[in-house]
Amino acid sequence: MILFARLFENDVGIDLGTANARVWARGTGLVMDEPSSVAVDARSRKPLAFGKKAEDLVGGKSGGAVLVHPVEAGCVRDEALARAFLKHCFRKVPWSLLAPRAVLAVPGDLDQDRKVAMKEAAVKAGAREVFLIEAPMAAAIGAGLRVTEPTGCAVVDIGAATANAAVISLAGIVCARDVRIGADVAERDPEAFEAEVVDSAARLLGMAPPEIAADLVGNGIVLTGGGALRPRTPPRRAGLSRDAAEARARERWKRENRSDVDLVFGDE
Ligand SMILES: Nc1ncnc2c1ncn2[C@@H]1O[C@H](COP(=O)(O)OP(=O)(O)OP(=O)(O)O)[C@@H](O)[C@H]1O
Ligand SMILES: [Mg+2]
Repeated sequence: MILFARLFENDVGIDLGTANARVWARGTGLVMDEPSSVAVDARSRKPLAFGKKAEDLVGGKSGGAVLVHPVEAGCVRDEALARAFLKHCFRKVPWSLLAPRAVLAVPGDLDQDRKVAMKEAAVKAGAREVFLIEAPMAAAIGAGLRVTEPTGCAVVDIGAATANAAVISLAGIVCARDVRIGADVAERDPEAFEAEVVDSAARLLGMAPPEIAADLVGNGIVLTGGGALRPRTPPRRAGLSRDAAEARARERWKRENRSDVDLVFGDE
């Protein structure tokens, strides 16, 4: 019976990032974790290899082939190559009778046209149906945070080109902040990168409703994505002191002239 069900079951989750692509298949788990690179013929732009093989090919070959990343910060930069790369992703999914249903992670602030472009690329690559999920929600689920519970959790997903921060509660995004700065900038300007990560986490806290901000003091903010692995990135689980959280929240309410709210911590 299980084997029979497997013939039809082929739901996949795809994170087609600027630098890396990961593909997860229901029932199997992670089936692909490779650079999101395509090696193309320098003259004809014909794709020659994908992922790790593409990097090896261009690394070992002089002249004839160049490396392309078809998607940058969730935007399809080269439609034909994005489609070809997604086809490569679908080839990694165990065979089944039906075409796969795919969930694609995209930055939360992606505009409608760009969302449509991502969906179209996946449909043309062979998906039966395509759904989009906001990158920080996908990152929070991947990090094992309990996103459906009535408590607040926060995540900052630091990719190569973007950092997507969000506070999540009851399976929804309560507030979010997306910036076009990621770990690639850290190579050139580590100070700007670090300031941005800290600022994202602090602003997120300032945006959260007080009862949720109080949850975050206990739960901390979880950093995910490749950028979280950089040695100088603030700790992966950035513990926030209660004082800092309270000061931020009060600062914001003062700015907004709010006298109807106050911050009460669970242990008070
Ligand atoms: N161990 C590590 N040490 C330092 N930096 C790392 C490490 N691993 C990954 N990175 C950096 O993380 C970035 C890639 O992270 P990730 O795979 O999350 O990005 P992405 O999802 O492809 O990008 P985006 O989400 O912006 O589209 C690269 O810039 C890389 O330099
Ligand atoms: Mg990413």
